[in-house]
Amino acid sequence: MSVSVATSSPSSLTESEEARAQRRIARIRLEMELPDFQNIKLEFLDDLAEVIGIAPGDIWITSIRLGCVILRLSLSESAEHSLETKWEDREKEPLVELFKKRYKVAWVRFYDVPETRISVIVNVKDSGHTLTWLHLSDAHFRSEEGGKKFSQDKVTGKFLEALPKLLGEWKLEPDLVFFTGDLSFSGKREEFGVVGDFLKKLQASLPRQARFLCVPGNHDVTWNNIDPEEEERLRGSLGNEDQVNSLLLDASQKGRLTECLRRLSNFSEFVKSDPLMAGHPAIGDLLYYSEVIDHQGFKIGVAGLNSVWCSTRKDLAKTEVTQSLDLGHLVMGEPQIKTALDRLREAHIKVALVHHPPISEWFRHFELPIHINSFSEFDFILRGHQHVQNFIGLDPNLDEKNKFFPLAAGALYSHPGHPNGVNAVKVDLATGIVEAFSWVYLNSHSVWRKNLGPRETGFIEFSLSMRVRERLSIPARHVA
Ligand SMILES: [Fe+2]
Repeated sequence: MSVSVATSSPSSLTESEEARAQRRIARIRLEMELPDFQNIKLEFLDDLAEVIGIAPGDIWITSIRLGCVILRLSLSESAEHSLETKWEDREKEPLVELFKKRYKVAWVRFYDVPETRISVIVNVKDSGHTLTWLHLSDAHFRSEEGGKKFSQDKVTGKFLEALPKLLGEWKLEPDLVFFTGDLSFSGKREEFGVVGDFLKKLQASLPRQARFLCVPGNHDVTWNNIDPEEEERLRGSLGNEDQVNSLLLDASQKGRLTECLRRLSNFSEFVKSDPLMAGHPAIGDLLYYSEVIDHQGFKIGVAGLNSVWCSTRKDLAKTEVTQSLDLGHLVMGEPQIKTALDRLREAHIKVALVHHPPISEWFRHFELPIHINSFSEFDFILRGHQHVQNFIGLDPNLDEKNKFFPLAAGALYSHPGHPNGVNAVKVDLATGIVEAFSWVYLNSHSVWRKNLGPRETGFIEFSLSMRVRERLSIPARHVA
């Protein structure tokens, strides 16, 4: 049984502070099916009340959804703040053990959350059909010895050291590892060698053999492979959709396109030659791919999209403000996105990997409607670049049928003192429940730990959109 985070002391708080105070949440997972739980739930509530020392009438079920039973507890103030203590009470241990055995309790975890009422969430067990991925981004691996590499080695080394425990705490066994760009610092061959060494150690820290998939970021561009004069012409010839489509599709432009993609030749070489990238989908002319992975009988579609094929060398800037060279000038191109999507037509779940956030100021204005129309067809959009973890798009008010989930990973490593973060996602393919986890590096303590964020739990839980549940034929009883 895992126990974390000390309970806050409410006695010294003012009324307004108390309103914002941390409250306890307990999450319990039972190794039983939902229909079985339904048959015994009243008995379960009575026994749980007895174990934690409150009156049976003080617990009731407010809702049952998505295979989860959510219980809200009404407790006296004194009982409220000793929930965990009572559960852990040594004198009650036989009772707790009996309860755990009787109700097949797999684990119990306690958290502090900024809530006004205490909740206990009871999950029925995993269906056994799950897909788990680890999402890394923006590592910026350097090869040159020095202070920055020293700091990078420290943070990434601590990550590898902590990973088995971070994953183990949630019983996560990644099937896939996604790396959404900026693997290297400046696209040098030696830097990709460092990336390869890191991935090898990463695989050794994972509980099972995972499949690795990546896309390039702007730091994976090899500046020396860009001819300044040709680059001026290229940038001047991407002014509208027709020009972009012509460059990407016309046979007469093949030579120019090939020259343009030389900037990613070290990245491309790494993907072709690194042992852990063996089995990586073939990278086409645009360095993008679509892959449908057969996973436990489910088809998981992954599109690796290239947002940096015209990302340019910063030393071409005529001012100090180098960021402006890419800002508002990037292009993915409709042929790339549409083709990638078409090839995922049969997939149950469609995942896009892309370095830059789509529908953002990084892209030329004429790309935005293309992004708006296309990216909503993916179910998950995993990206990086901005070094901020977030799970935007998880708004429950989004259209249930068509909603999609943009999930941003933080930077695995950027530079000393900069925030670092990593995500993981577990999808239950039979119930449609998705759990997204995030971890951060705490510079002050030199440790990786759960990202407590606004929800204070290190994870969020939500349901797949209706369109995916229909594709997966998830039974109606699991639907809210
Ligand atoms: Fe980036």
